[in-house]
Amino acid sequence: MGNLKEKEYIIAGNWKMFKTVKESVEFINGLHKELSASPENAAVEVLVFPPFTSLYTVKDLSDRIKTGAQNLHFQEGGAFTGEISPLMLEGVVDYVLIGHSERREIFKEVDSDLNKKIKTALNHGFTPVLCIGESLEEREAGKTFAKVENQLDQDLEGLSPQDLEKIVIAYEPIWAIGTGKVATPEQAQEVHAFIRQILKEKFNAPESLRILYGGSVKPDNSYELLSQNDINGVLVGGASLKVENFFAIIQNSYILANG
Ligand code: PGA
Repeated sequence: MGNLKEKEYIIAGNWKMFKTVKESVEFINGLHKELSASPENAAVEVLVFPPFTSLYTVKDLSDRIKTGAQNLHFQEGGAFTGEISPLMLEGVVDYVLIGHSERREIFKEVDSDLNKKIKTALNHGFTPVLCIGESLEEREAGKTFAKVENQLDQDLEGLSPQDLEKIVIAYEPIWAIGTGKVATPEQAQEVHAFIRQILKEKFNAPESLRILYGGSVKPDNSYELLSQNDINGVLVGGASLKVENFFAIIQNSYILANG
């Protein structure tokens, strides 16, 4: 793999179903204060995925923090109780998380719907962050590569190389999410390199496509993960809920981006 480190890192926080509006505002203000104390690093994008209820309130609170939605519906409107349409997110978010394993497993989202969601996100000018990854059983059965390749095949079906330029992939092994069991930097790098190769071979994706790692990322393991050649950032769950932890991860990316 070529040296991709001149490419921007993305440090993203997935808040899941946590934080009231008040707590969200407090977090963004707190993180902004920390970020403002250090010069802006153009090679690092800081991004959070708050719950829908907080998005509108927090979106303009900091020019150093981008926001994204945790999900969207692929239709612009209709009788879909409880869903959020892309039109409602226009002017509110830059990014949309698609196919998080919790959406796939708990809410039974299937690849064909995720493919529609990605196309919808692109049509509305959002950057989709597509999450893929294997379960523990799949890893133990030696099916990791087959699983992520299959997800990429289905989720990205019909997308052009130009579309691929606007997509971010998050590799999140399910066994590492919320478990404290982080993939080793070597395990993560191996799958990231594979994903990059598949995307290039099958979809003509640019070498610079950003691939984030997610799954028990913490301040103390983030530096090593971010140092890997094919890891262009991290998607952080638990450790993104406290300013102190999330900022420590951002600081590691600053060191590497400057290095
Ligand atoms: P975690 O979650 O960092 O708490 O493991 C990651 C995610 O679900 O995106």
